[in-house]
Amino acid sequence: MSSLTLTCNKAPIVSLNGQPVLLFNGQQHTLLQALEVKKIKVFSECRSGYCGACKTRVISGSVRYLTEPLAVLGEDECLPCCCVPSKDLDLDLSAKGADLVNRPVSLHPQAEHLLID
Ligand code: FES
Repeated sequence: MSSLTLTCNKAPIVSLNGQPVLLFNGQQHTLLQALEVKKIKVFSECRSGYCGACKTRVISGSVRYLTEPLAVLGEDECLPCCCVPSKDLDLDLSAKGADLVNRPVSLHPQAEHLLID
């Protein structure tokens, strides 16, 4: 008997104060670039994790850093210029002017890992 295991990896949803604005599908290199494509304004300078100018409060979720940031961060802060969302993320930024997205149809959490005989 053979079995096939399917695992669904969904793109993280990035929300701003609870308003979903984008699916992070990897088309942009960083979270900052993905936000800029959606016309969301985030002040930035070095764009490399040095200056801390893009420091943004994370309401919920988590990020993964592409390069280790040198700017000092609080536990609830991230640097969008050098990170990507590692799961659904809600940031303390204004969604004003951004196109909102609908939450995609998702599987029941227990159905995300399917075993087919
Ligand atoms: S722009 Fe300098 S740390 Fe992000």
